[in-house]
Amino acid sequence: MIFEEKFSVAPMMEWTDRHCRYFHRLLSGSAVLYTEMISADALIFGPRHKLLAFNNEELPCVLQLGGNDPKKLSLAAKFGQSYGYSKINLNIGCPSNRVQNGSFGACLMKKPKVVSECVRAMQDVSQLPITVKCRIGVDDMDEVKGLDNFIDQVSAEGVNLFVIHARKALLNGLSPKQNREIPPLDYSRVGAIKKRRADLKIIINGGIKSIQEGQNLVKQYSLDGFMIGREAYKNPYILSSVDKIVLNQKEKIKTRYQIAMKMADYIDEFVKNDQGNVHSIIRHILGLYNSLPGAKEWRRELSENTRFSKNGDLLRFATDNIEEFIHSKSLILA
Ligand SMILES: Cc1cc2nc3c(=O)[nH]c(=O)nc-3n(C[C@H](O)[C@H](O)[C@H](O)COP(=O)(O)O)c2cc1C
Repeated sequence: MIFEEKFSVAPMMEWTDRHCRYFHRLLSGSAVLYTEMISADALIFGPRHKLLAFNNEELPCVLQLGGNDPKKLSLAAKFGQSYGYSKINLNIGCPSNRVQNGSFGACLMKKPKVVSECVRAMQDVSQLPITVKCRIGVDDMDEVKGLDNFIDQVSAEGVNLFVIHARKALLNGLSPKQNREIPPLDYSRVGAIKKRRADLKIIINGGIKSIQEGQNLVKQYSLDGFMIGREAYKNPYILSSVDKIVLNQKEKIKTRYQIAMKMADYIDEFVKNDQGNVHSIIRHILGLYNSLPGAKEWRRELSENTRFSKNGDLLRFATDNIEEFIHSKSLILA
């Protein structure tokens, strides 16, 4: 399926699972959603169906894979295609030790030949577009020549979309969390890649705090789109303005209340089919009312009671309470 990636929510391990993506889809009909990174080994040797199953509502949804073995990655890409994902993205940006020990993720930026072999193998077996998410560099790699060379070699295999996290990954001494904060952001480096390779789709990522800020970067550097990770997860309601700001769509933005009620229905359905517990869904939506009066109490009520909850009623009840509280506050202020 060909579609643009003007706005996407970043792949985030332990965060962007299917429940989180369903929630994000309710907030934006057009955002491109990414899975968490799934290693090729996990798909081959692990609980494949559990890792790949998703709701059609989540589409367009990109399956992100991790690995460095062309054969295994091609098998994993085949699985992804058979489940109906929209594209396959290869993770060349993750700095975690576990990933480094398996010699994949960000350390592969130093091995563009291996990455090329991997994407070629995936392309040979899959009709889905194969894309790459990387950093602007890694360790002491030359920021200009190193990244240019990486992009040139990998795009020569037919990859025409790169998501670039605009900071280097420092593989020795920094934790993954520090690697998302300490190396400085350099958006102009991503802009320079687009300028040099206008034929490629370049998506910028890293430190973007609002939809408007992302739009401004896209405009400033003539990019093809932007991706937001942490801010979208922590303050998910920012996603409600994506369709309007990024795509000029005219539909009315859904209220937080409408979203919460839909999530309550989703919980009922999910639990009825005995597919998991309420907590595994509710944990993703705790930021929905952030910055509004009563948000803390709403979060607490949900977090404290979710383990005893058997359906969506806890969410309905807590949401009725916060809406009533917000309404009473606005009456006082009026
Ligand atoms: C909890 C967490 C998990 C992440 N997992 C992945 C992952 O599986 N694959 C990946 O490419 N990046 C992963 N990232 C990095 C994000 O995709 C993104 O590149 C990074 O957070 C910078 O974007 P942001 O500043 O908008 O959050 C993760 C980030 C976080 C916070």
